Amino acid sequence: MITNKELTVEKYIEEKRKQTKDPICAYIYDLKQLRDHATAIKESLPSFCRLYYAVKANSDQPLLNTLDPIVDGFEVASEGEINKVAAETEKPMIFGGPGKKDREIEAAIHSNVEYLNVESFHELNRINYIAKQKNITVPILIRVNLSVNISDSHLRMAGVPSQFGVDEREVPAFIEAALAAEFVSIEGFHFHAMSNNLDAEAHVRFAKVCIEKSKSWREQFGLSATIVDLGGGIGINYWNPGDSFEWGTLASGIAGLEKEAEDLTLIIEIGRYMTAECGSYITEVLDIKENHDQHFAVVRGGSHHLRLPAAWKMSHPFRIYPVEEWHYPFERPEVLQAAVTVAGELCTPNDVLVRKEYVEQLRAGDMIVFEYAGAYAWTISHHEFLSHPYPEIVYLKDTTQ
Ligand SMILES: Cc1ncc(COP(=O)(O)O)c(C=O)c1O
Repeated sequence: MITNKELTVEKYIEEKRKQTKDPICAYIYDLKQLRDHATAIKESLPSFCRLYYAVKANSDQPLLNTLDPIVDGFEVASEGEINKVAAETEKPMIFGGPGKKDREIEAAIHSNVEYLNVESFHELNRINYIAKQKNITVPILIRVNLSVNISDSHLRMAGVPSQFGVDEREVPAFIEAALAAEFVSIEGFHFHAMSNNLDAEAHVRFAKVCIEKSKSWREQFGLSATIVDLGGGIGINYWNPGDSFEWGTLASGIAGLEKEAEDLTLIIEIGRYMTAECGSYITEVLDIKENHDQHFAVVRGGSHHLRLPAAWKMSHPFRIYPVEEWHYPFERPEVLQAAVTVAGELCTPNDVLVRKEYVEQLRAGDMIVFEYAGAYAWTISHHEFLSHPYPEIVYLKDTTQ
């Protein structure tokens, strides 16, 4: 753990350069940024809205520790995530995911999971069966795949056919089945529907629809179910970071729904928007070359560390950190005032982090710093492919705590 709070990415690079000639490759997490960002999110939300962190975005223990005093709970999607959260905190969890194993359902029952999302009739039967054997009642949220498509965000889990949740048209039959199941209690509805939504107003409209639907099912079946879980899906504008998601619009829009929500509690489970910005991925340029009239930079690292740009076929936001030192006795390869594709060290043409972006100058030995690499970055990458060494993971500790 690096304790100097003044330490920046640049200082890390300078220090590291003095220590080793090996190409630099690291993730740096700024825990102070994370704490301040999470606190601002929490403070902006009205009291009828609870803030959860979706652990799948980044389950690193120092990040969970940083968020623990700020958030109301954690959203988890596997027994592994349940265990990681339980090891750090007693805060409540919500357990979701379309492929729950019996063993995971049992682990959830025995841990601090306050609600289980139920995603299908078969899953309802299995949860009820397991709960019956233990003679306990399991609080559930019915995960709904809405028929309406509220946003045109990047990835959608609802409003389209998908493996997630119960088709909205089947929700009445599902409620009847859940009411007949003796060992579950319906505590509310879960609506996670999209990923990387950049339109805050669309997100407010989505929240309003979720509240309206929950109220109508409550009324129709006389349910006390008070939880409306919106899931996550708040976006990061990787294409134009300056034009970011208008969090204030979402927070004030949600506050404006308080009256309409009556006695409902709204839960928001934020993953990407919570941790993306605190992480930077740094790689050293190994080579610069021209191939069939295009410029390529090859870096130490790649999609086995940062898979997101390859998965989304996009250029990840980056900046160049120039390094003046050059220790070989021969010419330094460079590209000047041209578009360059930044590729990784893997033996696949899919290992691309940046696609044909203009640079003033990029040389072998310079560093590239990829911003917004704190969520769905290291966690979703195929680390073992080609057996290259892992990046160093560095935490800029929040010494003000
Ligand atoms: C149920 C659920 N909640 C919350 C999230 C977090 O979404 P995001 O990282 O887009 O905020 C996810 C992500 O897949 C999810 O599946």
